[in-house]
Amino acid sequence: MKIVVIGGTGLIGSKTVAILRQGGHDVVAASPNSGVNTVTGEGVKEAVASAQVVIDLANSPSFEDRAVLEFFETAGRNLLPAEAAASVRHHVALSIVATDRTDNGYFRAKLAQEKLIEASGVPYTIIRATQFMEFLRGIAESSADGNTVRLPPIMFQPIAADDVAANVADVALAAPKNGIVEIAGPERASFNEIIARYLKAVGDPRQVVSDPAAGYWGGRVEERSLVPLGEARPRPYRSRRMAPPLTGTSLRLQPRCTH
Ligand SMILES: NC(=O)c1ccc[n+]([C@@H]2O[C@H](COP(=O)([O-])OP(=O)(O)OC[C@H]3O[C@@H](n4cnc5c(N)ncnc54)[C@H](OP(=O)(O)O)[C@@H]3O)[C@@H](O)[C@H]2O)c1
Repeated sequence: MKIVVIGGTGLIGSKTVAILRQGGHDVVAASPNSGVNTVTGEGVKEAVASAQVVIDLANSPSFEDRAVLEFFETAGRNLLPAEAAASVRHHVALSIVATDRTDNGYFRAKLAQEKLIEASGVPYTIIRATQFMEFLRGIAESSADGNTVRLPPIMFQPIAADDVAANVADVALAAPKNGIVEIAGPERASFNEIIARYLKAVGDPRQVVSDPAAGYWGGRVEERSLVPLGEARPRPYRSRRMAPPLTGTSLRLQPRCTH
């Protein structure tokens, strides 16, 4: 099966490409460096021609509110009509849990991406994942105030990139759901507890404090703003490997593994 992975050189993209290639599929890892740019439209038509499945794992180079919205809207408007014209059988995209009930600029952009997919006429599955464990450092940095990291008192359930990629590959090989599936990590705990454990594991002395006035990337959040409301998809976690900074035994964030 020919599968095109847009953003196939990124964190999740490169892992997904490797899994699918191991499964014997004809996988194209597409990105601007390989001449496929979903923002300018360069190479898009050619890349998706004769593909059965397109997986969109691209990310915006800028997270500034307007830039990220423009990225996902422009990319969707270039990519989805090209897929429709090529009769692509399944479009898979990776979004974020709670894009429709948590307000910040990045989530608004991902929601706009989802809406374009739903309206495209291309059979699709949207996977909403919780935050990647590999993103914990970025979260700590963005919430740092001197030697203190201020976080809102909310629940958190990060997932390892290896597990995200395994789920994306599974979904891509299954029939389109024409709907949304949610995936989350194996452990739900308070935001400050997980970030404190992460900082300790990487030897970062900063103190984490719970601050009801703190937001998440500039948006107001409540207790369950970042976690699935129901049970997240109990998918097989294929990988027992953890992200490098999280291998510390004190973290106890092992992925559930059903086989
Ligand atoms: N961070 C989280 O916690 C989280 C949670 C849930 C969902 N997500 C979503 O997961 C997806 C993948 O994230 P990631 O961290 O794996 O991304 P990443 O590592 O930043 O990789 C981004 C990829 O997008 C490609 N790209 C950038 N601009 C492009 C363009 N104009 N056209 C085509 N490709 C382009 C990059 O190509 P180059 O290598 O050539 O630059 C790279 O392959 C994103 O859509 C993100 O919204 C993230």
